[in-house]
Amino acid sequence: LLVSASEGSGRKASETLFGIFFEEINHAGAGGLWAELVSNRGFEAGGQVTPSNIDPWTVIGDDSSITISTDLSSCFARNKVALRAEILCDATGSNVCPEGGVGIYNPGYWGMNIEQEKTYKVVLHVKSLDSVNISVSFASVNGSQKLASTNIFAAASDVSNWKKFEVLLKAKATDHTARIQLTMTKKGVIWFDQVSAMPVDTYKGHGFRKELVEMVASIKPRFIRFPGGCFVEGEWLRNAFRWKESIGPWEERAGHFGDVWMYWTDDGLGYYEFLQLAEDLGTAPVWVVNNGISHNDQAPTSSIMPFVQEMLDSIEFARGSPNSTWGSVRAAMGHPMPFDLRYVAIGNEDCGKTYYLGNYLKFYNALRKAYPDIKIITNCDASSHPLDHPADMYDFHVYTSASSLFSMSKQFDHSPRNGPKAFVSEYAVTGNDAGTGSLFAALGEAGFLIGLERNSDVVEMASYAPLFVNVKDRKWNPDAIVFNSWQQYGTPSYWMQQFFAESSGATVLNTTLQANSLTSLVASAIIWQNSKDKNEYIQIKIVNFGSNPVSLQISVDGLAPNSISLSESKQTILTSNNIKDENSFNEQNKVVPVQSVLKNAGANMDVVLSPHSLTSF
Ligand code: AHR
Repeated sequence: LLVSASEGSGRKASETLFGIFFEEINHAGAGGLWAELVSNRGFEAGGQVTPSNIDPWTVIGDDSSITISTDLSSCFARNKVALRAEILCDATGSNVCPEGGVGIYNPGYWGMNIEQEKTYKVVLHVKSLDSVNISVSFASVNGSQKLASTNIFAAASDVSNWKKFEVLLKAKATDHTARIQLTMTKKGVIWFDQVSAMPVDTYKGHGFRKELVEMVASIKPRFIRFPGGCFVEGEWLRNAFRWKESIGPWEERAGHFGDVWMYWTDDGLGYYEFLQLAEDLGTAPVWVVNNGISHNDQAPTSSIMPFVQEMLDSIEFARGSPNSTWGSVRAAMGHPMPFDLRYVAIGNEDCGKTYYLGNYLKFYNALRKAYPDIKIITNCDASSHPLDHPADMYDFHVYTSASSLFSMSKQFDHSPRNGPKAFVSEYAVTGNDAGTGSLFAALGEAGFLIGLERNSDVVEMASYAPLFVNVKDRKWNPDAIVFNSWQQYGTPSYWMQQFFAESSGATVLNTTLQANSLTSLVASAIIWQNSKDKNEYIQIKIVNFGSNPVSLQISVDGLAPNSISLSESKQTILTSNNIKDENSFNEQNKVVPVQSVLKNAGANMDVVLSPHSLTSF
């Protein structure tokens, strides 16, 4: 392998080459990244009508001690459903309440993770005609063990109108499948609405599950595309993600049923929170807007302008001055400074649909005029032929077998060098090769990414898809990060991305693989600067996709004498005994990168590449 590192050779890669794509799929956000523990906190999962679907809320008590119903008495205009509980038993008399009382419980998303010594903030809204004494507690799965509890007392005059209560609960024991309970032992009628429970300790205090964000942060993403995917489109437009419904105080959000991935979200993780997450991660937000097209219905171009205005409003919300109509809403939510939104994608996978082009042009023209600096991304592929419409970038998605993706390392070698750049916003090996996240898949993907890195003059951005899966709702396979209520691990595809953490903004060097029979190898080399020590580092990455070890001589020309520090030279390898090997909750580190000192580091070095491996030097 010849690597040319002489002064002036090589090319600067995009500063945003590798990032992440977050979609609300697999309960990635609700019951995942968003640390809210209560599911269906407003009793609205059945929609804005009664009787609503209150699942997974469940009654504690029997017909003789409690009856519940839903009505439209909430104080929140956009989500009128509230839960009415009539307690029929009492502390004394002929119908004494069972020990522990009667009421309701919510197990969250397949059980709440409550950890000893950690503090949780519980918020609930209550109304009653009588005085109330509500026990708020976290308990084990069947309620037998209390992990934390407190009581809310209020006089009838305090709760005759809706009143918000906030309590902090510190857990005295750990339970990963806990539930929250609201119980009473006094006869009367009581209404509940908007019940929330969050750990106090979240990523940067902004409501994100810390361990999950930290895993994302460690691959150093330079952008975050959100919130989908198909989630943006919906099966039907009426169920698509509507950003205006997802902002403002969480209690006032209506929530919605995502009909592609078939689950309800309370929209605690809304448009504002996505922008906040991007800022917290130091990444560029890429906002995918609904372009009036879902999987099954389309708004024709002649009536698309309300959707276009919706997009313009969303940008004013993100970037407008705190005095502007929508900028003031953002400011009221706690962020007077604008968010750094510079990328907007018009729709998802909609190119070729009847109204795509017409709608796209309406969006494009309005956006270009109002925000000339925003980079606009079309759904239409321009990797092999020019577009028939203006765009700054074009979206490119690929899901295929390991060997197909590996061979697609050349996909962009012959793409037009001028014109819009590629945004490979979804790529992954899927199908049998991938299982639920295999080494084989990761190697196919690594070969593809090496190709993107080599073609980073025409590829501006790339992200793996999907990012997260809650194992209790595996709608899509495989995914980069797997989690349950309390654990998380990376699939080999996640660890593969660690090898590309320094690529964005790096100088990509010219490399030539000389051996003519080495179709199983792909390689790239970069020089990157460490922002901490300001030193420059050279990194050579090679995938050996074949089943035999390969001896290779690596020659780097153009390096200044003594510029290689032997003590700092490392080699990192991602491999395993079997290409189908995967990580799991029990074996989280079965297929992870292993680092060692590179003993023979130098301008010329002989290395042996393990079968089925990704190695960086
Ligand atoms: O990443 C999963 C899905 O794959 C996305 O929602 C969609 O864009 C693609 O079809």
